[in-house]
Amino acid sequence: MNILITGGAGFIGSSLARKLLLDNHQITIVDNLHPYYSPEQKREHVNEVKSLGIPFQFIKVDLVDEISCKKVFEEGSFDVVVHLAALPGVPYSIKQPHQYIDLDIKMTVNVLKYAGETKVNHFIFASSSSVYGNQTGAPLTEEMANGQVASPYAAAKYGAESFCHAYQSLYGFQLTILRFFTVYGPWGRPDMAIPLFIRKLMAGDSLDIYGYNSARDYTYIDDIVNGIERTILYSKNNDTYNLGYGEPVYMEKLLDHLKSKFPRMKINQLKDRRGDVKMTWSNITKAKEKLGYNPLINIEEGLDITIRWAKKHFNR
Ligand SMILES: NC(=O)c1ccc[n+]([C@@H]2O[C@H](COP(=O)([O-])OP(=O)(O)OC[C@H]3O[C@@H](n4cnc5c(N)ncnc54)[C@H](O)[C@@H]3O)[C@@H](O)[C@H]2O)c1
Repeated sequence: MNILITGGAGFIGSSLARKLLLDNHQITIVDNLHPYYSPEQKREHVNEVKSLGIPFQFIKVDLVDEISCKKVFEEGSFDVVVHLAALPGVPYSIKQPHQYIDLDIKMTVNVLKYAGETKVNHFIFASSSSVYGNQTGAPLTEEMANGQVASPYAAAKYGAESFCHAYQSLYGFQLTILRFFTVYGPWGRPDMAIPLFIRKLMAGDSLDIYGYNSARDYTYIDDIVNGIERTILYSKNNDTYNLGYGEPVYMEKLLDHLKSKFPRMKINQLKDRRGDVKMTWSNITKAKEKLGYNPLINIEEGLDITIRWAKKHFNR
């Protein structure tokens, strides 16, 4: 299939591009290498994709710019769009809320519009567990998102989901919304807890822990990539799916495991950060039944792989 990956120089997008190229799809990556985190790391992601030696197209474009966005679609005739491009991150969205409207909403509207105009068959939108807000104590099922979110980032994702429905109705393409739960692994985003902690531990620095009593449904990158690929291959109707591991991991457990690898670990326990939810816990029954999604890597195994990768990568 001819597949456009927006945000394909990012963490999830570049991992997805590698998998889809190996599985013989034709891939175009569009990304503006936004400086939210190091553009140098994003170039390294693209180089990793190139290192496979399989041809693909990389276009450096800001998708907020409507004319450039239109051109990408008019020259591409894509079967499928996986729309991952976004400004991520909860804390930054509290500091710079307007950017999440200017980027995440506007860019999604542009991508939806030109996907529709150029008759893309299937639009896949990367949403987030953050759309469930602060609901705790039970695994979250897809219909539990009710707009009562806890941060501007989550509001932008929930709003963008709504635009996806509007444009599906206007153009009739197949729409799948995937809600990812805290993704980690090699090449992980440097603003997120696991990569940040590993970097600090390797440098001998202490860790600032905000949500000591919080829990996250950490999901290993290969499981997410498999979930997206299964969506491309097997989803038939307009639908929304959780892609998580299906188990909340408390901060204490995460830290215990890290301490077993870095015995000199020191932590500074700080008060909870505004905008962060207490717990995320996905119910993945629907994705299992309809997509055959089956996450395989538990937190201990995933952390071990990620630590081994970080030691090799950052000590080069
Ligand atoms: N990583 C997670 O745990 C997680 C969890 C839930 C949802 N998501 C969502 O999944 C998607 C991918 O996340 P990620 O972790 O790979 O993030 P990422 O920041 O690594 O990737 C996003 C990419 O989008 C690009 N981008 C941003 N603005 C752009 C613009 N105007 N034009 C073109 N490209 C632009 C960035 O340069 C970046 O490479 C995002 O939509 C994110 O919100 C991620």
